[in-house]
Amino acid sequence: MMKNPPQSRSLYAQEKLIPTGLAPMEGVSDFATRLWFSLLFPPPFMSTPFWRVTGHQQNPLPSPFFAPELNRAKDLVPYRLVPQIMAESPEAFCRGAETILKETATVDLNAGCPSPTVTGKGAGSSLLAQKAEFKKFIHSICHSLGAQHISLKMRTGYGKDPDDFLALIESIAEYPLARLTVHGRTRVQRYTGKASWDLIAHAAEKVPVPVYGSGDIMDRRTYNLKVSEAPGIAGVIIGRGALRNPWLFYELSKGEVVNVSLTTLIHALTCYALLRTLLWQNPEKLLELADQGFFLNPCTIEEEKWRQAQAVLSYHVFGKELKPTETLFEKKIFSSIKMLWSYLRSSLPLPFYAPTPLRSTNFSDFISALASFDRECYDAGHQLSGGYPLIYNPNCDWVYAGERNPNNHDATTIPN
Ligand SMILES: Cc1cc2nc3c(=O)[nH]c(=O)nc-3n(C[C@H](O)[C@H](O)[C@H](O)COP(=O)(O)O)c2cc1C
Repeated sequence: MMKNPPQSRSLYAQEKLIPTGLAPMEGVSDFATRLWFSLLFPPPFMSTPFWRVTGHQQNPLPSPFFAPELNRAKDLVPYRLVPQIMAESPEAFCRGAETILKETATVDLNAGCPSPTVTGKGAGSSLLAQKAEFKKFIHSICHSLGAQHISLKMRTGYGKDPDDFLALIESIAEYPLARLTVHGRTRVQRYTGKASWDLIAHAAEKVPVPVYGSGDIMDRRTYNLKVSEAPGIAGVIIGRGALRNPWLFYELSKGEVVNVSLTTLIHALTCYALLRTLLWQNPEKLLELADQGFFLNPCTIEEEKWRQAQAVLSYHVFGKELKPTETLFEKKIFSSIKMLWSYLRSSLPLPFYAPTPLRSTNFSDFISALASFDRECYDAGHQLSGGYPLIYNPNCDWVYAGERNPNNHDATTIPN
């Protein structure tokens, strides 16, 4: 609880800002995305997506840009990295972890991925299917590597029964792990329904290691709600909420809704595409930029800082400074922008929910579509003097949205 909260913010008095990080997200939380969050406003820690190590790999090595923050970019980025491994056997996990532990103190075990291609091979959330086997797995890796070097990220079980979770937690309570992160859904739930923060609260009471909660934090309101539902937790991680509102970590630190101008929004999105392009085509350049301290000063919502960041990145990608409307990106980069946009539009005023940007076939048209909404928002009174307030609207959220909205509409329809 904050001492001497500012009188002007009534909600602030109840707020408790605990360690908050970016969740591991396969296909999303890679080096480029982590650097982008550094420019937005970095949380204290961020997670890699899982690195899959299989049984037959003798000397497994991750890609050189899986976790460069651990050695080459150490001290050049403003956050701590949590590297994660997925494996179906303790031996495979340890082989991968030994590589990572040469450069950092802890490594995270993935016991949560629900994908059938993963669970079919006995990895991810399928580690939770048998309590005795799960305990053996944890015992074996703790014995080989030392429990203090391992953190665990798990779901609340494999099947539907909440008692499974209680038994799983009990079975590992004796191991002094570095951290336990619980995503409050079972494997069967995947991303549907609501995360069970009562179970996360229970884990925090029963397990004598720092417990972090995960699931359904969208904004400052849900952050406060979840933290108050599980008062014993040591921290939280945020995944999809940080894509719905990429300035969420900034919002939490300020204690108030963040407004972004269209210029900031467009330049920030362009920077995302540029960073992804560099990671793909010239990753060494990202390290060079990190060397120069490029990622140590966040741009937050400042137009001029974003403009400058975009000019520098554009120069490194295209050999000259291009405006957002002049840039064109490879298909796979543009797809990641569309992915991000399908989350982000749910935190912007209603006109942005229109299907036009997602239908555009190149980045330049995409940006022009956003620009055209500006006037519409202005006329409808959505735009305040400081830009658009980022406020999550569940009616405009159709990506991994959990329980479907009862007013079943498709993504091409703007709800009332
Ligand atoms: C696209 C996507 C990829 C994910 N990849 C991983 C992963 O690699 N490792 C992991 O432990 N969890 C992964 N998760 C789960 C998240 O870390 C998080 O626990 C979950 O999404 C619930 O939190 P949220 O509601 O804040 O998104 C992924 C989730 C999403 C949506």
